[in-house]
Amino acid sequence: MAIQIPRGTQDILPGDVEVWQYIEKIVREVCSTYQYKEVRTPIFEHTELFQRGVGDTTDIVQKEMYTFKDRGDRSITLRPEGTASTVRAFVENKLYGQPTQPTKLYYIGPMFRYERPQAGRMRQFHQFGVEALGSNDPALDAEVLALAINIYSKLGLKKLKLVINSLGDNESRTAHRDALVEHFKPRIGEFCSDCQGRLEKNPLRILDCKKDRDHELMGTAPAILEFLNEESHAYFEKVKAYLTAMGIQFEVDSTLVRGLDYYNHTTFEIMSEAEGFGAITTLAGGGRYNGLVEDIGGPETPGIGFGFGIERVVMALQAENTSYPTQEGIDCYVVAMGPEAELKAVQLLNELRQNGIHAEKDYQGKKMKAQFKSANRLQATYTAVLGDTELEQQVINVKHMETGEQEQIALDKFIEYMKKVTQ
Ligand code: HAM
Repeated sequence: MAIQIPRGTQDILPGDVEVWQYIEKIVREVCSTYQYKEVRTPIFEHTELFQRGVGDTTDIVQKEMYTFKDRGDRSITLRPEGTASTVRAFVENKLYGQPTQPTKLYYIGPMFRYERPQAGRMRQFHQFGVEALGSNDPALDAEVLALAINIYSKLGLKKLKLVINSLGDNESRTAHRDALVEHFKPRIGEFCSDCQGRLEKNPLRILDCKKDRDHELMGTAPAILEFLNEESHAYFEKVKAYLTAMGIQFEVDSTLVRGLDYYNHTTFEIMSEAEGFGAITTLAGGGRYNGLVEDIGGPETPGIGFGFGIERVVMALQAENTSYPTQEGIDCYVVAMGPEAELKAVQLLNELRQNGIHAEKDYQGKKMKAQFKSANRLQATYTAVLGDTELEQQVINVKHMETGEQEQIALDKFIEYMKKVTQ
């Protein structure tokens, strides 16, 4: 039996890959206008990075990581997300010492989570993310959000909803944490064993539980926004004011809980409201993570960022019927008949390509008629026909496929001619 692809992964084939390249192109262009620079980190890291970075009590670390021992008996994990790796690279390469701060980075690449696959949820998926490190300015929170929205709107997505929340600073979080323990403790026996473990370690995670999400205590749990101290409240107000100033619409949802432990202050998600998008509507998620750089061994440095799944953007583009580039046709198909014409055709084809002209020929010994068929299949704008007679007269017959117009061009003028007509 033929070997099949692992569950939760996919091949992105020609015909589909064009939309990926298009998304990546827009992402890079927008990042450049906002002055975010690309960083490329390894696909695997020491397991401890994610235990410390993403958090020991999260589903990602407890259930979803691809962790294995390498031949040197080290515990290695395929990265489940990009923030921890980016922060490690920031610390390890001492980017905090560079004169321009904050350090604004972005990444695009595969991430791995052992989840139950369904539409929009893969085991290998691709994330674009940004991380801005070294500033506590709420304007930066708003900038990161604006960048995400700007990418989506450049791609033509319209049916979006931005939901924001604040987890506040440590003091606010501790007050909220205590209230959560008090809320859940008397009836914790009714919750799953994971939640029972979470009660003392990290009660906020209970609110993110997939098994117990319908328990009546979930809806009545104390909301973080009521526990924000003055400073955290003022910070959140500023973020909202900046968003409003930029004309970015948002909803505040005090029940928004993210699946990773490193957040404080601003957290957010962007959902697709397109009909037919599917059950999982979150396109992007992110937030502020002051404290993470210290946790990973660096100097005290605030940070904020977000990540979005490229698979989900592709789904959203399809759900909104947005137009995007698909496979393109070629400029010229060179039809050659006879061994000498073949020799010349190979030379001409190479010259066409050197001049930036998209060109192709037959490699399967096809007859003339079949070669024209191939030209049509490749959506060639022109065909250039070279047989023994043409070669003798040092000419080539160029045909515009759509109009049917033909011209005989001197062989030594052919490249110049093609350059002119394909400009
Ligand atoms: P996250 O919410 O775990 O956050 O993931 C961000 C986005 O990645 C999701 O909204 C979704 O689009 C995509 N995604 C996640 N898991 C899957 C999956 N199994 N299949 C397909 N797409 C998926 C983070 O990863 C944080 N590092 C974001 C961040 C950056 N926060 C601060 N900086």
